[in-house]
Amino acid sequence: MVAGVGGVSAPGRVLIDRRRIAGRVDAMASEIEREYKSCRDAVLFVPVLDGALLFAADLIRRLSLPLQLAGLAASSYPGAATTSTGQVELGLFRVDVQGRRVLLLDDILDTGQTLATVKEALRQRGALEVRSAVLLRKQRETPPVVEADFVGFEVPDCFVIGYGLDHDGRYRELPDVRVLDQDNMI
Ligand code: IMP
Ligand code: MG
Repeated sequence: MVAGVGGVSAPGRVLIDRRRIAGRVDAMASEIEREYKSCRDAVLFVPVLDGALLFAADLIRRLSLPLQLAGLAASSYPGAATTSTGQVELGLFRVDVQGRRVLLLDDILDTGQTLATVKEALRQRGALEVRSAVLLRKQRETPPVVEADFVGFEVPDCFVIGYGLDHDGRYRELPDVRVLDQDNMI
């Protein structure tokens, strides 16, 4: 444990610090803007909650595009688990996506089950196009079942927290991405 922000201690070691995150989110915003600048209708940005909250908040403030925002809750990690159950539960989503271009935002791409499930659900509701942007992509032995269209950083196959990512609901507020070691797991 080391001292963190506001006197609260933050576990693990920093993997990607806040300055690198800010620089990469800037660059991703430029890439995304280039991709969508010719779209006449507002792009629907769908952050996968709760993990994508910080990434989405920082990314959309850097964009100069007509856009709308609608979060969708998804979860596959019960409690203190550090591996996905493979079963993704989606929350209520009442937004009409018929004929819309959608950009999903997520904190991390691991097995890909979350993005695959959300993509399929939105396509079934008539979305014209569903693409995705993730801040992190885990370098796994088995590749994810779907790839993301925009990726911030490749990270090793370990459990990370901070900048939206949690362990058992904690540490989302930490400004840097950190690796959570065994000692700090519940
Ligand atoms: P996937 O469905 O296996 O791709 O996992 C994606 C979701 O699992 C993400 O939206 C995260 O919420 C969560 N997740 C995956 N890896 C980590 C991690 O290392 N730390 C925290 N959450 C993770
Ligand atoms: Mg998530």
